[in-house]
Order: sequence, then structure tokens, then C-alpha cells
Amino acid sequence: MQKNTEMLSSIDEDLAKAAQLIRDGGLVAFPTETVYGLGANALDPKAVSEIFNAKGRPADNPLIVHISDVSQVYNLSDEVTIPAERVMEAFWPGPLTVVLPRKPGVPDVVTSGLDTVAVRMPDHPVALGIISRAGVPVAAPSANSSGKPSPTTAGHVAEDLSGKIDAVVDGGPCRVGVESTVIDLTQEPPVILRPGGVTQEELEGVLGHVETAASFAEDYVGAPRSPGMKYRHYSPKAEVVLVIGEHADEITQKVSELLAKYHCQGKITGVLAAAETAAKYSSDAVFNLGSRECPEEIARSLFYGLRYLDMQGVDIIISEGYSEKGIGAAVMNRLKKAAGSIIFL
Ligand code: TXA
Ligand code: MG
Repeated sequence: MQKNTEMLSSIDEDLAKAAQLIRDGGLVAFPTETVYGLGANALDPKAVSEIFNAKGRPADNPLIVHISDVSQVYNLSDEVTIPAERVMEAFWPGPLTVVLPRKPGVPDVVTSGLDTVAVRMPDHPVALGIISRAGVPVAAPSANSSGKPSPTTAGHVAEDLSGKIDAVVDGGPCRVGVESTVIDLTQEPPVILRPGGVTQEELEGVLGHVETAASFAEDYVGAPRSPGMKYRHYSPKAEVVLVIGEHADEITQKVSELLAKYHCQGKITGVLAAAETAAKYSSDAVFNLGSRECPEEIARSLFYGLRYLDMQGVDIIISEGYSEKGIGAAVMNRLKKAAGSIIFL
């Protein structure tokens, strides 16, 4: 059924409206510091199942439950350990999702039947304003069609979900630009299931050694612990080719060679490039992600750039690779998942 998707702003009156829609079982997209989320009342299984329909998301990929106050975590899990309390204290509100044993009251549709629940307190006044006014925990995946790059503006959400959800709250572009880090605290040592806005280095500062899930590796086969990791992700319409190398010079040379080859084949090309090299390419379209020296800037503009190049109607997007240090781990994880092919120099 086609819905009339209301565009709301971040004024108090609109936040109250968004919260009421959520309490009434509706679907509302709202900004967080990472990406836009598509929220529903986490305690209402019917509303949550509508999230899966709107996104075209496989039912075995569980959702993150968003809260507006740390104390609400105890309603969702009764095994909040001391390490869990320490990371929540250090990084909440913020781009960190903790996986904890779940209480039976958390609906199966939220956790895809797992005995754990993923919880996060976002660092965005609009998200917090809506969740606190709704008075319920809010299940929210990224507000994109399943498989597409995550949305970092209200316009991206509308592109994918207009007519399928009740409202989009526009709070401007997202500050972090990649999703939260998901850490499984039911394992010892804890395991990073998805790299994101909080870096491994930062987590280790609080928790000591943490592992990264084996499924980060390109050659990983087997049952992923975080079900979301097995699906194709972040893919624009265009084919993505990722060029990974030690030195910016060799990357630039390879990207230029590929551009020449694709032009010869009559393909329309787009390049996702760092500020330092963007001007060097003769491509139909180039998107400047920001300086290599500022990985936070690259992270912030990554999904925007993928969607921008798609809008230009390119056949192929060639992306430069980046260092995996800090938030670069999240950037490279998303690029590798978006890429149909990866060239290692
Ligand atoms: O930054 C974010 O995390 C954004 C904003 C909206 O908060 N949300 C987001 O949600 O990225 P989503 O649904 O796109 O990604 C959630 C990830 C998936 O990889 C999913 O498999 C994993 O979290 N996940 C959820 N519950 C889990 C659980 N109980 N155990 C392991 N992984 C879980
Ligand atoms: Mg997602």
C-alpha cells in the first residue's frame, strides 16, 4: 500500500508528531550522527515487521534498538556486565552498538530470533528528542532500501523510501557518515562485528584487547556472527571497482589506466577520489571525498559520493583505497562490500 510520506523538520512540534507516529505503530526516518535510521516501536512486532517490508530487508538480519537514556538498556538486557557499562559510559551517546544477552520481552522480529540484542544510544538531538518523546525503545536500521548505500541526508531517504514510510524528519546531513561500530560483548575478549564510528583503537583504550570478526576478511566463508555481514551492501547501481595500494601515486596511475580502458569500451565513468588526487583524473564525473589526511572527512562523504555518482548515470565507479587506520577501517569495510571487484597493487 502506497503511503503519504510526510516531510518533517526538527522543530519541537514535528519531533512530537514523529514520536506520536512511532507510538501509533508507524515508520519514521530520522537523522542520527552516523546515518539516517528508519524507526519503529521496538516493542510492537507488527510495526517492526513493516520496517523489513519497507526496506526489502531479509528477516534474518536483526535490528539495533535505539534508546535515549543509558538506564533503558536494563529493560532490554539483564546481563549488562562491567565492561559493557564501561564502554557505554565512554562512548554513549555515540556511534557504538553493544550486543548483549536479550531479555525475553524483546520481540523475536527485532533480534531475528537470536538470544542477543543490539543496543545503541545515538548522539543526535533529533534522534534523542524523538526517542524520548516516543517513550519506547526504537528499532532502527539504516533508512535505505536493502543493499543500497546508507542515507546521510533526508533526500537520500526520500529517494529510497518515499511512499513506503509515514514520515522523514530532516535534520541535515549526518556528521559521522558511516554506521556505528557493532561490538559483541557476550564474547571474551569482545568481538567487533562491524567497524564503524568508534575505532578499534578507542575501544581497546577502554576494554583492553578486542578481536575483529573473521568475516572482515575478503576471503571469509562461513556463518557470520552478525547476520547482516553476509548480504551484499552499500551498492550503487553502477559497478564499483576498488583500487587498493600502499602509495597514492601507484593508485592514481592504476585508476587512470582503468579510466582509459573503460572509456575505450564506451563506458561512462565516475571516480571517488581523495582531494589530493581528484583533479588528476579525466573521467566523466569525479567526486572529491576530502583529504586523505582527514579520514573522518572521507567517512562523512563516502555514501554521499556513491549516491552522487549514481545520479550522474555512470556505468562504473572507480574508487581509490585508503588506510585502514582509525575510522579508515569502517571506510574500507564499506568500500570492499560495495565493490564488485577489488584490485590489490
Ligand atoms: O549507525 C547505525 O548503527 C545505524 C543508525 C541508524 O543507528 N543503524 C544501522 O542499522 O546501521 P543496520 O540495521 O543497517 O545495521 C545493523 C547491524 C547489522 O549488521 C546487523 O546484522 C547487526 O547490526 N546486528 C543487529 N542485531 C544484532 C545481534 N543481536 N547480534 C549481532 N549483530 C546484530
Ligand atoms: Mg544498514
